[in-house]
Amino acid sequence: MCGIFGCILKEGQAAPIIHAALKRLEYRGYDSVGEATLDEGKLYVKKDAGKIDEVHMRRNLDDLPGRIGIGHTRWATHGAPFQVNAHPHFDCSDPPKIAVVHNGIIENFAELRRELEDAGHVFRSKTDTEVIPHLIEEYLNSKQFATKGNVDSEFINATIAAIGRLQGSYALAVVSTSDPDMILCARNESPLVLGIADNAWYFASDIPAFLPLTNKIIFVENGELVVLRENLLEIRKVADGSLVSRETKLVDWPPEMVEKQGYPHFMLKEIHEQPRCLRNTLRLQEKYLELLPTFLDRAREVIMVACGTSYHACLAASYMFSKLSFLATHPVIASEFTEQHGKSVSIDSTILAVSQSGETADTLAAVETARQRAATILGLTNVVGSTLTRISRVYVGQQSGPEIGVAATKTFTSQLSVLSQLAIRLAKKRGKVSQEEIDLLEEKIEEIPDIVENIVETQEEKVRTLARKYKGKQCFFFLGRGISYATALEGRLKLMEVAYVPSIAFPAGESKHGPISLITQGFPVIFVCPPDETRRTVIGNIMEMKARGASIIAICEKGDEDIIKLVDDYVEIKEGIPGVLSPIPYVVPLQLFAYYMAIERGCDPDMPRNLAKSVTVK
Ligand code: F6R
Repeated sequence: MCGIFGCILKEGQAAPIIHAALKRLEYRGYDSVGEATLDEGKLYVKKDAGKIDEVHMRRNLDDLPGRIGIGHTRWATHGAPFQVNAHPHFDCSDPPKIAVVHNGIIENFAELRRELEDAGHVFRSKTDTEVIPHLIEEYLNSKQFATKGNVDSEFINATIAAIGRLQGSYALAVVSTSDPDMILCARNESPLVLGIADNAWYFASDIPAFLPLTNKIIFVENGELVVLRENLLEIRKVADGSLVSRETKLVDWPPEMVEKQGYPHFMLKEIHEQPRCLRNTLRLQEKYLELLPTFLDRAREVIMVACGTSYHACLAASYMFSKLSFLATHPVIASEFTEQHGKSVSIDSTILAVSQSGETADTLAAVETARQRAATILGLTNVVGSTLTRISRVYVGQQSGPEIGVAATKTFTSQLSVLSQLAIRLAKKRGKVSQEEIDLLEEKIEEIPDIVENIVETQEEKVRTLARKYKGKQCFFFLGRGISYATALEGRLKLMEVAYVPSIAFPAGESKHGPISLITQGFPVIFVCPPDETRRTVIGNIMEMKARGASIIAICEKGDEDIIKLVDDYVEIKEGIPGVLSPIPYVVPLQLFAYYMAIERGCDPDMPRNLAKSVTVK
């Protein structure tokens, strides 16, 4: 749950480049930061707890010497976010000779640490990572490693031997004064990408780290070690040291996509990018959009697995598949999947895994359980080349571009757009819905980007005013019926995660079976009420809440006077969107509300406390 980056430059100074790249990776974690560089055979290090800007203010991350270096931005898993636990971590020497940065979790670190301490190693931190430099040091000193695959460097062999002892997930990088012209990187289950430029090699946890530097990339696979020297890039298998050849790919994300482009926060920028992202989803490759429905059509049972916001997309999709394609699906929170469905999944099951990052550990673990039971794996992700794309039989890349804000916004609406297109195509295949209805849905889905654009243009100020009015409230209710329940859940998650307001979402019909007891004078209740078949009963629910003194905010269709005259406040959505597609536009005011509530309450919406963008631990 961290970001790693490093480079070997032909000329120049590595430290400022590492610092800038870590800023682009800050969405992966931001409780501590560190860098190590090599210059004239010596190791130079800076690391501290705090966000990158704070640490830079205190310690100047740019003034380490040398062309070679590694860096890390951390989200604590083992060991609190203190300086001693910040990466890089070192061997026993003083000053240190080996420095390691790592993203992931070493599951057997406790046993390894005991073994190393028994052999005399002294640990400085509480992290799992620190076993790695000590293990390398141990192998280097004892020379107890088999030379594999004609590797003529003792340091590489010692590192291969050390990596062979690790259980768990890692993307890691190692530098050492014993071979001061080289960086070694390796991966297992945590993402690692190489960036190739004429005058430099880079590696990073994610592509945005080096987008302004190069668009040529190579994905590193599980079980591989990368050797980088000024004039050499070698990928080897950790198992036997053998060389691997892998072609370079080009990414077409423009570098300015990872900057804020004048917005105060990435979250706001990404909310505003939604019309463009939604248009992208209407231009996805036909063959993928055709293949997925073919698999879904054949499936005996379809289980959708995901976490957080992606799970909400699955929940909305379960209504779409049921209403349009007459396909029953089970949306399951990925961390519950193995317990709930592990034993019943079989060769007849089809798993549709939805993950923006394609790297969420819980989602990948669910997929792994299903894979072991021979289920068919389908994927929907924003990161092509991610683990999910590599383990799926067929996947769709949603093409939202990098999402930097920790709270998912543009990737959610794009997931919904792709899932609704899949449901419409499946409906066509199954012939369950009239051609007239299909034509209408296809026409309406094309209109959604403009409708979202209209919301952002015409309703943002209003939402901002609502945030000012309601900023002091301690709790919110989010209610919706049918597919709008998924929208309500997502609105509530956004508000909780960026503005820290504990909130509750319920299917509106369920609210009177308990939660209504919370309602007192002025308690804020947000109703999601598109003009679908649920509207009439939702009006009944609004009246029940109003009768008990609640302050009602409605997200409703433009000109829906029955609702507008009942409620205290409302946000209007341009008319004409069928209920089954409504979560895409109707969630947008809720995203804006969460954003402005965060601003009004003095929270940083891009870096909510305790959260990281990509949760790569279970
Ligand atoms: C919420 C949020 C998270 C993610 C969840 C799954 O705003 O971003 O709830 O949706 O961690 O992430 P992915 O989609 O990358 O699997």
